[in-house]
Amino acid sequence: MNKVILPNSTIGIIGGGQLGRMMAIPAKQMGYKVAVLEPECGGPLSQVADYEINAPYDCEEALLRLLNLSDVVTYEFENIDGNQISRVETKGYLPQGERPLLVTQQRDREKKAINDCGFQTAPYERVDNIHDLKQAIEKIGYPCILKTISGGYDGKGQWTLKSELDLENVQSVVATTPCILEGFVLFTKEISVIVTRGTNQQIEVFPVAENIHQNHILHLSIVPAQIDAKLRAKAEEIARSLIEKLDFVGTLAIEMFVVGKDLIVNELAPRPHNSGHYTIDACNVSQFEQHIRAICGLPLIKPDLIKPAVMVNLLGQHLDYALEMWKKPEFSTAKLHLYGKVEAKKNRKMGHITFANQCEVELSEQVHQFLNNFPK
Ligand SMILES: Nc1ncnc2c1ncn2[C@@H]1O[C@H](COP(=O)(O)OP(=O)(O)O)[C@@H](O)[C@H]1O
Ligand SMILES: [Mg+2]
Repeated sequence: MNKVILPNSTIGIIGGGQLGRMMAIPAKQMGYKVAVLEPECGGPLSQVADYEINAPYDCEEALLRLLNLSDVVTYEFENIDGNQISRVETKGYLPQGERPLLVTQQRDREKKAINDCGFQTAPYERVDNIHDLKQAIEKIGYPCILKTISGGYDGKGQWTLKSELDLENVQSVVATTPCILEGFVLFTKEISVIVTRGTNQQIEVFPVAENIHQNHILHLSIVPAQIDAKLRAKAEEIARSLIEKLDFVGTLAIEMFVVGKDLIVNELAPRPHNSGHYTIDACNVSQFEQHIRAICGLPLIKPDLIKPAVMVNLLGQHLDYALEMWKKPEFSTAKLHLYGKVEAKKNRKMGHITFANQCEVELSEQVHQFLNNFPK
């Protein structure tokens, strides 16, 4: 039977970053209380949560305290020890379980799961030493990308190999760290689809976003993605089918490459995703509210794009410039979100701005004007 968690109950979140904060804001609006487990005190989620537990994510005693305190527990990032979660799971209510963590924490497992569902990924081989790497290159060919099996994000733990000359740079990596080698995909666009599945089995898909990266970090999400209707339908169908076949609950992000008329699945994230932040200001329901509804057993809302939108990520080096621009009258309709991080370090995600406008020409002009002198 579908378990419904009503407002006034407590939602526990493992991880205290911006994704947790943006889950907590609609949760609190609906009248839930929020508890956070996070090593550092006073972070983005703690600032808006009702209860804060400061301990390492893998501290069993702290996890048990969170489960005890909460009527339902979720996570805001995937690099939590899945085995730890499975050990404590029976002590509380964690409807997503540990499987989404176990599947997505390791790139080879994730790709196999996607292939097993019948969807295409880049060709890949597991690499545990230099011998494996050479064999994998023989199969896959140059150019290719070496990625550490786990722990990578924003392009960290990745090396593009164009020829034998690049092997020297990665020798020490493959000698010490499990990796995969992936074929280089000559894509025309990168897109992502956010999909949510409730404990009631309902599935809802958000509009497809087109993503532009800078230095391997998301820079812009443009919605609707500029792709044809057939491809859009295919992307939505992949999302719906993947979340159902993987039997995941909650919000899942799926990154894809567009190659001609085909889609290649790149990565999964079993949580709300940076490329879905536009949903807060441009849709009738955000990826965060939908996630809360999903884990609380409430009916999901059918997402609707109210206005075309562009989300601009604000990293540490962008902050001063972005605030200077945002305070001008011509940008008064741009929605600013800052995550409450104290130090604006280079490449640290400090916030984002969403531009939304019924007229796509005006939208594009406004974003161009805003980005005119945007720091690198
Ligand atoms: N096989 C590939 N072929 C071409 N580009 C890739 C490939 N894999 C990753 N990239 C590029 O690198 C970016 C980051 O890679 P990704 O696998 O998404 O890792 P993460 O987001 O965890 O750092 C992608 O968004 C894409 O631009
Ligand atoms: Mg990625």
